[in-house]
Amino acid sequence: MRRLVPLLLAIGCGLPDNPPVSREIRWIDAETEDLARRACYDCHSNETEWKGSHRWPVVNSIVRSDVRRARCHMNFSAWDGPNEDAWEAPEALLDGEMPLRMYVRSHEEARLTDAEIVALAEGLEATFRLDPPLPGEPCDD
Ligand code: HEC
Repeated sequence: MRRLVPLLLAIGCGLPDNPPVSREIRWIDAETEDLARRACYDCHSNETEWKGSHRWPVVNSIVRSDVRRARCHMNFSAWDGPNEDAWEAPEALLDGEMPLRMYVRSHEEARLTDAEIVALAEGLEATFRLDPPLPGEPCDD
């Protein structure tokens, strides 16, 4: 085990390819899109920015699992698929549930001010009225 750990760290785990964008959500305005890209896109889109640190064992499986579950609940890059849980997004933001706290610690750009949180919550609501998420909730967790 003592030899295995540095070996695994040196080799690292593979990073997945992002699936293609099948249909991007139609944002109501540039400000909402910009805030969502800063705070949500790494998990809730197919434009995840994979980093070297995501190759580390443990980190690799946590990040893969977060991205898989996040995309399944709401994927701004797959707006032609079921995205019913998106309606929960304004509340998740205002309650401080999203973006995940652990993520914000290592992604300064995702740290939103109170004014930005309100602007994004309102912008998401307006965007969903313009381009409603399709019904269906395919996640099993
Ligand atoms: C680091 C990854 C990550 C980021 C960044 C992130 N989320 Fe999530 N999100 C998740 C995961 C993982 C789940 C699934 C949680 C579960 O299975 O309970 C989720 C679930 C959700 C859900 C489904 C319903 C719910 O409340 O559980 C909504 C809505 C949501 N996120 C909104 C957002 C919004 C809005 C942002 C940006 C402000 C955001 N998320 C940023 C990982 C993330």
